[in-house]
Amino acid sequence: MFPTASLISLCLLAVVSAQQVGTNMAENHPAMTSQKCTSSGCTTQNTAVVLDSNWRWLHSTNSTTNCYTGNTWDKTLCPDPTTCATNCALDGADYSGTYGITTSGNALTLKFVTGSNIGSRVYLMANATNYQMFTLLNQEFSFDVDMSNLGCGLNGALYLSEMPSNGGLSSANKAGAKYGTGYCDSQCPHDLKFINGQANVVNWTASPTDSNSGSGSVGTCCNEMDIWEANMNAAAYTPHVCSSDGLTACTGTDCGDGDNRYNGLCDKDGCDFNAYRMGDTTFLGPGKTVDTKSKFTVVTQFIATGGTLSEIRRLYVQGGKVIQNSASKISGVSGNSVTDSFCNAQKTAFGDTNSFETRGGLAAMGKALARGMVLALSIWDDHTAGMYWLDSNYPTTGSASTPGVARGPCSTTSGDPKTVEANQASNSVTFSNIKWGDLNSTFSGSNNGGGSTTTATTTTGSTGPTQPAGGSLPVWSQCGGQGWTGSGTCVSGTVCNKQNDFYSQCIPA
Ligand SMILES: *[C@@H]1O[C@H](CO)[C@@H](O)[C@H](O)[C@H]1NC(C)=O
Ligand SMILES: *[C@@H]1O[C@H](CO)[C@@H](O)[C@H](O)[C@H]1NC(C)=O
Ligand SMILES: *[C@@H]1O[C@H](CO)[C@@H](O)[C@H](O)[C@H]1NC(C)=O
Ligand SMILES: *[C@@H]1O[C@H](CO)[C@@H](O)[C@H](O)[C@H]1NC(C)=O
Repeated sequence: MFPTASLISLCLLAVVSAQQVGTNMAENHPAMTSQKCTSSGCTTQNTAVVLDSNWRWLHSTNSTTNCYTGNTWDKTLCPDPTTCATNCALDGADYSGTYGITTSGNALTLKFVTGSNIGSRVYLMANATNYQMFTLLNQEFSFDVDMSNLGCGLNGALYLSEMPSNGGLSSANKAGAKYGTGYCDSQCPHDLKFINGQANVVNWTASPTDSNSGSGSVGTCCNEMDIWEANMNAAAYTPHVCSSDGLTACTGTDCGDGDNRYNGLCDKDGCDFNAYRMGDTTFLGPGKTVDTKSKFTVVTQFIATGGTLSEIRRLYVQGGKVIQNSASKISGVSGNSVTDSFCNAQKTAFGDTNSFETRGGLAAMGKALARGMVLALSIWDDHTAGMYWLDSNYPTTGSASTPGVARGPCSTTSGDPKTVEANQASNSVTFSNIKWGDLNSTFSGSNNGGGSTTTATTTTGSTGPTQPAGGSLPVWSQCGGQGWTGSGTCVSGTVCNKQNDFYSQCIPA
């Protein structure tokens, strides 16, 4: 997750009762089933989603007086962090009416703008009081996504944060996970109204561009695994690690703000794999190898070697075909998955600071995955950087021909929040069919993608150019296709497999 999200505060309705708990509206979590899988099959889980507390109506425990309106705290109810937490209550949410959040069976749709609300963030619940914890070391996670109605400047995100399973429920926070408390991520966001049961009122500054948001002096940091940050034009998956375990409140340098970006607790840049940024501009998008005009499955495998996370592998399934992730075409960077050596080579090739490695790299990410993380799903626009780091050139003043600058085909003005909120209000993203469990247990499909018709049982590259075996191109590298300027043949044990006219890849024989 790069910067922060947009929020809402409401002002309606009648009377009540840390975040204390309000009783104007009953909190009913929309049901969304998911599945837990092993090699012998999948079992349906009766999970549900909960709206993050920051989007909720926060009002006096004794009345409907707002504790927070627009992007400002009520000074009488909230003179300091503790008094505010005692005086103010979070209330139940009208998911579809106010926030544009709907579920059906195993699917969740998040609409971008609904009335005066902008964006949303929900978490998967195991039951009424606890988040579903995901312990994914040496496991895999898959889901289907439909981004056909999600344009430039928006991010339909699915990711893991190392939040507490009960949302930090305590004598100071009586709301807990049931009301979506306890958020944290690797950007150490300052826009959270409560952190560890204390209101973030000290030096709160209203956002100059976002009428619903602001920032306090305290940030909330934790390890984050971005499984999916995307719109129809670009997608990235990105581990981000911190030098602290679990939710850690930060102030000052530790938050890594501004010039201290690389001095904080967390690795804000992460190690991203975005096919477009890695030089394959034809892999994912409308009409491309992974066609974002229709739904597809995203599979992420967290492969451990000797108990240590060594690789984060990505596969897609669309139209019954398994599509291997595209391989890097950047000079000096090889592979089609995230490994420490991929990250180090990429940081060098792009001239980026390697704060991922200095915070512990994949091994640190693996430890967080083993401890357990919470699943967040969100739709948001970007008041800090216009989402250009995901779908356009970034920095926006950089040349698209400089390796690492081009991340997607969107223009360097497409992500202005004002325009996006006005013109793409009806945009939405649908996530469905969430499954997790043993490696290779959550998906199936024939073992080649992008329009070829051979199946997993095929042992020779019948659809690829005929090439002698025993070459030097490693598994998953490109080995052919119109416009390919490389040379060489696939290493033995792999075959050159045609995925489409533009892309052939060395796949395991
Ligand atoms: C709310 O009511 C409680 C109990 O009646 C009282 O102690 C407290 O001072 C009231 N709070 C405010 C902000 O009026
Ligand atoms: C909810 O789930 C948590 C975590 O799995 C578990 O510890 C707790 O006992 C469950 N609570 C109920 C009421 O089922
Ligand atoms: C709040 O702002 C004041 C004035 O700029 C500063 O002295 C103080 O350190 C800040 N407090 C925190 C907790 O950041
Ligand atoms: C998963 O499938 C891949 C490709 O068929 C195979 O290389 C890998 O060994 C499998 N992993 C496990 C744990 O079965």
